[in-house]
Amino acid sequence: MGESPVMVNAENVHKSYRMGATRVVVLKGVDLAIRQGEFVAIVGASGSGKSTLLHILGGLDRPDKGVVQFQGRDLNRMSARGLNKYRNETVGFVFQFYHLLDELSVWENVVLPAMIARSIPGWLLTRRQAWQRGSELLDELGLSERARHKPYQLSGGERQRVAIGRALMNQPQLLLADEPTGNLDSATGNGILNILEKLNRAGQTIVLVTHDERVAHRAQRIITLADGRVKSTSRVEV
Ligand SMILES: Nc1ncnc2c1ncn2[C@@H]1O[C@H](COP(=O)(O)OP(=O)(O)OP(=O)(O)O)[C@@H](O)[C@H]1O
Ligand SMILES: [Mg+2]
Repeated sequence: MGESPVMVNAENVHKSYRMGATRVVVLKGVDLAIRQGEFVAIVGASGSGKSTLLHILGGLDRPDKGVVQFQGRDLNRMSARGLNKYRNETVGFVFQFYHLLDELSVWENVVLPAMIARSIPGWLLTRRQAWQRGSELLDELGLSERARHKPYQLSGGERQRVAIGRALMNQPQLLLADEPTGNLDSATGNGILNILEKLNRAGQTIVLVTHDERVAHRAQRIITLADGRVKSTSRVEV
C-alpha cells in the first residue's frame, strides 16, 4: 500500500516566549510530517509545548526559526490574506474550552466561518448553500434540536459538538483539536472521539493534542514531545 502525500511538514521549529527578563524556550527543533488522511495524536507532559506546536501548524502563531509547510507552501511566506484564508478555510480548530460565541445561537456559531470567508456580496450569493451545510452538520452531530439554543444552554458534550461543526463548516483539509475531551467526563469524551474517528474514516486528516494516553490511542500514530523536540513516533496497534 502506497503512502499518501505529506500534507503538513515542520522542520526544525523553534519557539520561545519572553517573560519579562527571562525567555521560556518551548520548542527546540521540532521535525514532523503529517500525511493526508492520517489521524495523529501529539502527546507530552503539561508545558511540553503541544498547544504551542498546534497553533504554529494552524498558522495562529509563528515559529522563531524553522519552516512549516502545508502541501509544500511555506506558511511564513504567505501574505496576510493567504494566511487568513489558511486559518479560516484550510484548517479547522477545536479547543478544550469550546470558544463559542454566547451571543449567537448554535446554528449561527456553526455557520459563522462561512460568513467570515466571504465578502458581503459573496455571502449574499452563497448563504443558502451555507445554511444548508450548517443544517446538515447539525443533523450529523445530533444537534438539530438545539439549533436555536445559545451555547450557555448546552451541556459540555453538546458545546464541543457545536465547536466541531464550526470547525468543519468550511470543509477544512486539516482538523486540529487541542484537548477536545479535556473538559468532559469519559463517556462524553468518548462520544467526541467517536465523531473524530468517523470523520477520519471518511478521509478527514486530524491532529489531536492530548496529555491522556488513552485518548491518544484512538489515533493511528502518536508523536511524543519532550524537551522541546519529538522524542518518539509510534504506530498504534489495532
Ligand atoms: N503566550 C505565552 N507567553 C509566555 N509563555 C507561554 C505562552 N504560551 C505558552 N507559554 C509557555 O510555554 C510552555 C508550553 O506551553 P503549551 O501551552 O504549549 O504547553 P502544553 O504542552 O500545551 O501544556 P498543557 O498540557 O498544560 O496544555 C509553558 O511553559 C507555557 O507557560
Ligand atoms: Mg495545551
